[in-house]
Amino acid sequence: MGFDEMDVDTIWMDGEFVDWDDAQVHVLTHAMHYGTGVFEGARCYDTENGPAIFRWEEHVDRLFDSCLPYEMEIDHSPAELTEATKELINRQDLASCYIRPLVYYGYNSLGVSPSDCPTRTMIAVWPWGAYLGEDALENGIDVMVSSWRKHASSQIPTNVKTTGLYVNSLLAGEEARRNGCAEAIVLNKEGNVAEGPGENIFLVRDGEIFTPGLSESILDGITRNSVTRIARDLGYTVNDAVSISRGELYTADELFFTGSAAEVTPIKQVDNVAIGDGSRGPITEEIQQKFFDVVERRTDKYEEWFEYV
Ligand SMILES: Cc1ncc(COP(=O)(O)O)c(C=O)c1O
Repeated sequence: MGFDEMDVDTIWMDGEFVDWDDAQVHVLTHAMHYGTGVFEGARCYDTENGPAIFRWEEHVDRLFDSCLPYEMEIDHSPAELTEATKELINRQDLASCYIRPLVYYGYNSLGVSPSDCPTRTMIAVWPWGAYLGEDALENGIDVMVSSWRKHASSQIPTNVKTTGLYVNSLLAGEEARRNGCAEAIVLNKEGNVAEGPGENIFLVRDGEIFTPGLSESILDGITRNSVTRIARDLGYTVNDAVSISRGELYTADELFFTGSAAEVTPIKQVDNVAIGDGSRGPITEEIQQKFFDVVERRTDKYEEWFEYV
C-alpha cells in the first residue's frame, strides 16, 4: 500500500510538525547524492495498556551511535525526538504503526566532504502490517542465498544503520524476488552467513539456537537482542557469537529472521531445499508466540522495553 492510500498527514522535520505534502528537500541535498543518512525503524504496538513503542530507547541510542562514524551531530535531544514521535502518533490517532527517524546531511554544497552541510532530522510514522505478509509469519518464507556479499565492516560500518548501505540490501532482495523468493540471505566477505537485507537470522539445531556474532558484518539488531533474551528466559541456549557456514543453513532444523519490520519470520526453504519439514518449526513458533505476547503486552515481563505513547 502506498502512502497516498494511508490516513497520515503530518511529518516532523527539524523541530516542526509539517503537512505531509510539504515535507520536501532540495534535489542537491548531500544525502541524496552520497547516501549520507542514518536512520531507524521501530514499531509502536497496540497493546493491552495502550499504544507502546517497543525498545524505543535502544532505537534512539542506535540512531545517535549511527551518527558517530560520520561525525553527524543531531540538533535535537533524545527526549525531544521521543516527544515528537509520541505527538506524531497521537495527532494521527494511530494505535499501532512503524516509526522512521532519519538524520542526514542536507543542502549547502556537494563536495563529498559534508563539512558545510547542515545535519537535518525527520520523523515519520505510518501504519505498516507484517513486513513480509501475514502468511509469512505463519507459514514461513522461501529464501535464496544471494550472489551479492555484504560489505565487510572494514569497508563501511555494518553495525549501524546508514542509508547508503541499503543499496546492497536492494540488490540482494530484488535478486531473490526475481528468483521467486520472498527474501535473501546475504553472506559476508568470508562467505559465512551474515543476515538478511533487513533482518538478522537465527538457526536452530538439536534444540540449541545460533545467530551470527557481531563481527560477522551484521547490524546489531534490537529484535536479535530481544529474541536472544526471550529464548534464554524460555530455557534455550543461544549462541550469539558464532560463525555460521553456508552449508549449515541446509542442515538446520529451523531458521528464522528477526527485525523491527520482519518481527519473527520463519524460513521454510533455502535455495529450494526444505528446512526441517519445510514449515514453521516448533521452537520458532514458541519464540514467535512469546515475542508477540511480549510486544502486545500479554505478559508483565520486560516492561522496561516499552515507551507508552
Ligand atoms: C541489515 C539489517 N539487519 C538487521 C536488521 C534488524 O534490526 P532490528 O531488529 O534492530 O530492526 C535490520 C533492520 O533494521 C537491518 O536493516
